[in-house]
Amino acid sequence: YFLGIDLGTSAVKCILVDAEGNVTASGSAEYPLLQPQPGWAEQHPEDWWNGSLNCIRQLLLESKVDGHLVKGIGLSGQMHGAVLLDEQLSVVRPAMLWCDQRTGAECEWIEATIGRDRLGQLTGNRALTGFTAPKLIWMRNHEPELYAKVAHLMLPKDYVRLQLTGAFGMDMADASGTLLLDVAGRRWSQDVAEQLGIPLGWLPPLFESTDIAGHLTAEAAKLTGLAAGTPVVAGGGDQACGAVGVGVVKQGIASVALGTSGVVFVHDDSYQPEPECRLHAFCHGVPGKWHRMGVMLAAGGSFQWWKNHFAYEELEQARNSGRDVYEFLTALAETAPLGSEGLLFLPYLTGERTPHPDPKARGGFIGLNLRHGKAHLTRAVLEGITFGLRDSLELMKASGIEITELRVNGGGARSLFWRQMIADIFGYPVVTVNSTDGPAYGAAVMAASGVLNRSVDSLCGEWIQVVDRVEPDAGRHEQYNRYYAIYRSLYDTLKNTFH
Ligand code: XUL
Repeated sequence: YFLGIDLGTSAVKCILVDAEGNVTASGSAEYPLLQPQPGWAEQHPEDWWNGSLNCIRQLLLESKVDGHLVKGIGLSGQMHGAVLLDEQLSVVRPAMLWCDQRTGAECEWIEATIGRDRLGQLTGNRALTGFTAPKLIWMRNHEPELYAKVAHLMLPKDYVRLQLTGAFGMDMADASGTLLLDVAGRRWSQDVAEQLGIPLGWLPPLFESTDIAGHLTAEAAKLTGLAAGTPVVAGGGDQACGAVGVGVVKQGIASVALGTSGVVFVHDDSYQPEPECRLHAFCHGVPGKWHRMGVMLAAGGSFQWWKNHFAYEELEQARNSGRDVYEFLTALAETAPLGSEGLLFLPYLTGERTPHPDPKARGGFIGLNLRHGKAHLTRAVLEGITFGLRDSLELMKASGIEITELRVNGGGARSLFWRQMIADIFGYPVVTVNSTDGPAYGAAVMAASGVLNRSVDSLCGEWIQVVDRVEPDAGRHEQYNRYYAIYRSLYDTLKNTFH
């Protein structure tokens, strides 16, 4: 067996995958998200470790699998969070997470200090509030006494790997989101670290995601029920692991992950930054490869907001039938015509990242008239989210990349209506695959790759199959193109009204 661990923002998920790639057991353990001030988001690294221990023990207990049969462990995790340890390896302060928005001023300072273009040349990216380096600068500015104690920087899942193995390390895929990596060269950027005044000595050794980065210590073996000496691969950030988990490991294949956020992700055989860095250009979890991604902050999140506040009847129907409320909502949306009779929805409910890195961006319904009812508004929400995702796809297409297949995954992928809408709006065939365990599955694939010495590509080819394919309709694509052109003009028209 291979153990895949995904350290998420609300819970850690663990799965066991057998030698044929089947998921034979899964479990999860939750931990709290701290929001000590508006816009702040923190977690205690100790909670991640305790949650992981509980989750692994429970998994072995319930599946009745002997821990000694687990031949490799892979870790995936929420990206960008700053975990800071002192010389004695004690946590200096709670980790500031990817969704923490406190670093606006620090991002401006970084871009002014290094220069936005130069930063793009050095790291492939812009300074965004979620990224790691701005969090360090914030600490230097606001908590100098704590900053003075820092001796080690790592990302969330690297802290759990340290507890499992006693070894420091970070994979290049996750390291790409620190803003301290020379993404093209797959090494720390001495230049950026020096200009920002961040000691290089804080940064751990870098690995490819499938490299064995340590072995389980005797103590961790006792705590988990796994065997001492079990290899632990470096793993990756949750986006790279999620992409591996659905087989986005070859040129031409892209994915759309429809969770709270929406991510359009494309594999790159070579380093291909977007000229203005509106897409993230990161190392992939496939050794020696890269990827680009666009991150929309409220994709499923917008639909969930709509459900939470305006779906009384559908919630009632769901309660009475035992079915999912989203089934009733998408069925309602389907009764409205394509384009929602001119109604457009802007999905920037929590600001936006791609293609508008603007924490102040806001949502809205534009073009309401008296004929519009709830079905139109519901359909407009889905269309608006999908137009927002197409913005990322357009940035990718502008570089001339040829995409042959889009693999849709995450909660939103369950709806055939939404999958067809994505195919029609994007103009690409949309497929779904048999693996639905997301980043945890990708982490298990990385573990298998490292331990069995097999390529990620060949394992994915063997373990992951396409199970459904939806073709775009040329007529509907044309009609959507007209609405998309209007959608695209709205952010610029409205941005001065966001406050
Ligand atoms: C990626 C990102 C999120 C977090 C959430 O850039 O911020 O995917 O990793 O888990």
